[in-house]
Amino acid sequence: MTQRAVLAYSGGLDTSVAIGWLTEQGYDVHAVAVDVGQHESVEEIRRRGGLAGAAEVRVVDAVDRFAEEFLSRAVKANGLYEDKYPMVSSLARPLIADEVVKVAREVGASAVAHGCTGKGNDQVRFELSFGVLAPDLRVLAPIRDPGIPREKAVALAAEWGIPISRVAASYSVDENLWGRTIECGPLEDPWAEAPEDAFARTAPVHERPNEPTEVTIGFERGIPVAIDGAASSLADVIRNVDDVGGRYGFGRVDMIENRRVGIKSRELYEVPGALALILAHRALEDLTLEREVAHFKPGVERRWSELVYDGQWFSPLRLALDEFVEETQRHVDGEVRLRFSPGSCSVVGRRSTSSLYDLSLATYGGEDAFDQRHAEGFVKLWGLPLKVWSSKQGDA
Ligand code: ARG
Repeated sequence: MTQRAVLAYSGGLDTSVAIGWLTEQGYDVHAVAVDVGQHESVEEIRRRGGLAGAAEVRVVDAVDRFAEEFLSRAVKANGLYEDKYPMVSSLARPLIADEVVKVAREVGASAVAHGCTGKGNDQVRFELSFGVLAPDLRVLAPIRDPGIPREKAVALAAEWGIPISRVAASYSVDENLWGRTIECGPLEDPWAEAPEDAFARTAPVHERPNEPTEVTIGFERGIPVAIDGAASSLADVIRNVDDVGGRYGFGRVDMIENRRVGIKSRELYEVPGALALILAHRALEDLTLEREVAHFKPGVERRWSELVYDGQWFSPLRLALDEFVEETQRHVDGEVRLRFSPGSCSVVGRRSTSSLYDLSLATYGGEDAFDQRHAEGFVKLWGLPLKVWSSKQGDA
């Protein structure tokens, strides 16, 4: 009996070549393209998968699932790897792995496959996820294991009649609801400025509107639930904010990143929606989190982000950290005003019925309810250890 393999399919160069290679090895290939909000035509994905020789090309709509199960947690955890990258690809891989495993069970496949190279993080994310979700299935990595170099993949694609766009030939791009990632080609020189043709979701300087625009984001328990007062699904809020930010050319990240596999790489990201929503979420946390929680949480966020980046979505530590994050979000309700100007986004206002900001304590005006007499003793005791130290040991 022919063996079946279910491949995580993107419609791009590598995964299309992977279909051809797996087919040549005698597998019936079920190519599963998981729609996580990439701006790609379903028809085009089907066409390419068919041309590459897949027995079946299936497109699974998982946009809302991606938003609700993955991106909502990323917002609550202010998820940024190395303080900059909102983990566009990192967050999508465990979901794609899960959808691939579902199809593998349905068609009775003996193997699952991905089209990642051996140099990136995505292989780690897929294989760690497959290992937890379906330890009994074989994992095939046709691009990595036979070691098909990029030039060879381009040549094979041409030979098999798989069309590759001009951008795909010069860059390696990944895209979803949370943003767009761009690597390779002219970006490999970290000194060279990114060419304008690398960008697709953020407007170039001369096309950005001059007049600023304001957008109000409503949050409930840390999750964006409304835009300009209109209740919306999380996916819609993200799409809208991403569009506005993109028009202003906000959300470009150009960074050197430490991959899990030990390589430093130069990465570009277009993430207007992700960065704007994390900015807004942080502003609301400033208003609603108690001081010690506010100071402790960033350490958890950093660890959460490393885990997600490193492919450990399905891990007990990620689950435990998410329980902590969830507890902190109980009163993160309210609204944040974001102002977009050419190339930037800033918070210009925030309000919450759960606000811990107390005007009668903060004001320097007549309503002042802060009893300044208590401050004198407090400051004395706070400074006591320093006084003792300086009198006994200090040469300062
Ligand atoms: N460096 C980013 C990450 O590790 C982006 C990876 C993009 N993946 C891709 N197959 N082009 O998450």
